[in-house]
Amino acid sequence: MGERRIAMVGLGSMNGAILAGLLSGGVAAENVVATSRSAVSAQQRADQYGIRVLAQEEDDDANKSAVAEADVVFLGAKPHQIVGLCQQIRDALKPEAVVVSVAAAVTLEMMEAALRPGQPVVRSMPNTPLSVGAGVVGLAAGAHVSQQQTEMVAELLGTSGAVHVLEEEQIDALTGVAGSGPAYVFYLAEHMAAAGVEMGLSPELAGDLAAQTIAGAGKMLVANRATADAAELRANVSSPNGTTQRAIEAFDAHRMDQAIAAGVAASASRAAEITEQLRD
Ligand SMILES: NC(=O)c1ccc[n+]([C@@H]2O[C@H](COP(=O)([O-])OP(=O)(O)OC[C@H]3O[C@@H](n4cnc5c(N)ncnc54)[C@H](OP(=O)(O)O)[C@@H]3O)[C@@H](O)[C@H]2O)c1
Repeated sequence: MGERRIAMVGLGSMNGAILAGLLSGGVAAENVVATSRSAVSAQQRADQYGIRVLAQEEDDDANKSAVAEADVVFLGAKPHQIVGLCQQIRDALKPEAVVVSVAAAVTLEMMEAALRPGQPVVRSMPNTPLSVGAGVVGLAAGAHVSQQQTEMVAELLGTSGAVHVLEEEQIDALTGVAGSGPAYVFYLAEHMAAAGVEMGLSPELAGDLAAQTIAGAGKMLVANRATADAAELRANVSSPNGTTQRAIEAFDAHRMDQAIAAGVAASASRAAEITEQLRD
């Protein structure tokens, strides 16, 4: 992995999290070049990561220069910018360079149409725990991507989390469960802590209890994945007529299962809606 040349077009929160994983996973800083829009953020990111960062506002050709030698190009700008960036870099890319987008809602077809015919394109959907090395990433390979190239991208992104290769049709569902998922857990933490405060705990203690409980339960879920699913782990801690059982009965009485299903479905359908808006 160390010898691959990597370009990051845009180096905000998502590409920054990916970069941190790559550097800690053995990619050499001298093999990475990135761009940002502004000179201020280019300087800040260069200092932060110890890599070369070019600013588009200082040099109109910054994105093109950054991708020229790259084997893999991560596009980390906002969804509405991705097609324009593909058009901008298309003639500067090596024909075999793999273009990986981390943008929500932008389809393989949209990117392939904006690049030279035959350019390999991968669409990814990461989530923010990538920034602490515990992300989830969905990957869908375009029409011109070899198995070996998909594996290379999976290996690179695997430095910051779990990678799942899937069909593009499943990306919106993955967005609903995993892309937006960290926010559902933060929402749970928020309300568990608030309930603790209602019962007299200090906000600091209640916040610590919620965060540490969720982190511990998450570790248990992952550690037991091969032998017990979430429902079984829950049953194991719900003694008949005990405290946990009472809590679950209260959740069920409030149809929390339906609320969660509605939230996950709303995220997935918003992703599809943004894709339609980008087509207009
Ligand atoms: N954050 C999430 O939870 C999440 C989850 C999944 C997917 N994503 C996807 O990740 C993508 C990036 O999101 P983000 O939250 O990382 O955004 P962000 O923090 O705003 O970063 C955007 C980056 O793009 C740069 N940029 C803007 N225009 C550019 C141009 N013309 N040339 C080169 N660089 C340019 C910005 O530079 P400046 O700093 O100089 O403006 C900045 O470095 C989005 O498409 C989003 O859909 C995000």
